[in-house]
Amino acid sequence: MSNKHPAATGNWRPAFHLSPPQGLLNDPNGLVYFTGRYHVFFQWNPHACAHGPKCWGHASSPDLLDWTMHPPALQPGEWYDSHGCYSGSGWVMDGRLWLIYTGNVRDGEVRHSYQCLAVSDDGIHFTKLGPALEKPPASYTSHFRDPRLWRDWDGFHLALGAQRNNGSGTVLHFHSATLQHWTLRGELLPGSDNGYMCECPDLLTLQDRQLLLFCPQGQAGADWPWPNANASCYTSRQQDGAVFDRPHALDYGPDFYAPQTLHGPHGEHILWGWMGRPEQPDTPSVADGWSHCLSAPRLLSWRDGLLSQQPHPALQALRGKGVLLTDQAIHGDWQHAAVHGECSELQLNLRSTDASACHLLLRQGQHCHTRLSWLPATAELLLDTRHSGSAEGRISRAPLPSGKRLQLQLLLDRSTLEVFAADGTVVLSACIFPDADAQGISLQAEGDIHIEQLAFWPLNAKPVHMSSAEGLTA
Ligand code: FRU
Repeated sequence: MSNKHPAATGNWRPAFHLSPPQGLLNDPNGLVYFTGRYHVFFQWNPHACAHGPKCWGHASSPDLLDWTMHPPALQPGEWYDSHGCYSGSGWVMDGRLWLIYTGNVRDGEVRHSYQCLAVSDDGIHFTKLGPALEKPPASYTSHFRDPRLWRDWDGFHLALGAQRNNGSGTVLHFHSATLQHWTLRGELLPGSDNGYMCECPDLLTLQDRQLLLFCPQGQAGADWPWPNANASCYTSRQQDGAVFDRPHALDYGPDFYAPQTLHGPHGEHILWGWMGRPEQPDTPSVADGWSHCLSAPRLLSWRDGLLSQQPHPALQALRGKGVLLTDQAIHGDWQHAAVHGECSELQLNLRSTDASACHLLLRQGQHCHTRLSWLPATAELLLDTRHSGSAEGRISRAPLPSGKRLQLQLLLDRSTLEVFAADGTVVLSACIFPDADAQGISLQAEGDIHIEQLAFWPLNAKPVHMSSAEGLTA
């Protein structure tokens, strides 16, 4: 049942999602491909399952499957980052890996935010170079963080999360010829309807669209029908200088925030997000000494005016012996002996002939289940985590394109669930903490539901090589 507070269980640590060896993980940072490896840094408090002075945890992989945890890349302690090496980004230039991050300094109630550089030749050991941008411009407060660096024919650019002196959120654009002296070019989000602060901006180009990802804080209202007060969203425009369109939710689930993208070796864009959110209470895994994880890597594309996110194809190598079914009419309850498990992938193409609803029960056991409902009549997906297990749950809603067909792809990894619907244009992510023996998967049809195709695989991940406690400062 929900709301129970168990002793340590050990069965929630994800197998193929990156989670911290101990302590609390939040935002993905500095995502780059360098010297033949994908480098994923992350906000990490290794000393407690609580937000605090963050360092940059670091994992890398040659193939997105076989991960090694390295010693932390950046740790707080200098005058400009004494209270945390906060989020930022990476850029490869002249054979070196450059990082830019926010040095967080608390002076009683006063916050200082310095945008700081660090550099590495081997991608493992970093030398801090100190602040390159010491304070926000006059019309902005010290809520000024999460620099996203990129370079083009015109020089270096930064997108930075900011708050105006009037308390509204925006994203600022800075320019530099040298990485050291930055001048403000303007606001990327001129409107005043982006909450009280925009965290973690990211920019990328897909086909001919320029996309800005950002996380407006404090946006719960009728015009903002997304599940979380701290949301992650994207907006796009045709070219530099044009106005960005109306934002869309990047993920409708209860546990997704601070996404960042990596520009891969083949020009592809891969996204990771934090499977958590700033206002979240302790997760039950705190009893096991760790909290939160990153999402699975998601390959991005632009489809008919919308962002599409799909599990990275590299993950297909984790598939065990599969089940493939086609053309099955179902009435009432449906299950299949080989379709169950805690680490798995499910692909489903459903048709609702009479527009009746259908419910997919996941991690189903005697005392818990997670319910994903398709309501064709209102063109909605509902994810109900209220009975998922040992955590407070809720119902999250996502709008679907209308029609009698639904295409779904799901990833389950012990305490994570990621739902990719409508070719990845509608995504929901949730952390669930079910009983270990709750492994069932079933369908409940309210009327005439047809499984056009079902594909299911258990997923077998390689263990992460852990060496990250080495090199931690006390
Ligand atoms: C977003 C965030 C960032 C900040 C970091 C601190 O989750 O608040 O704005 O840099 O986390 O850990």
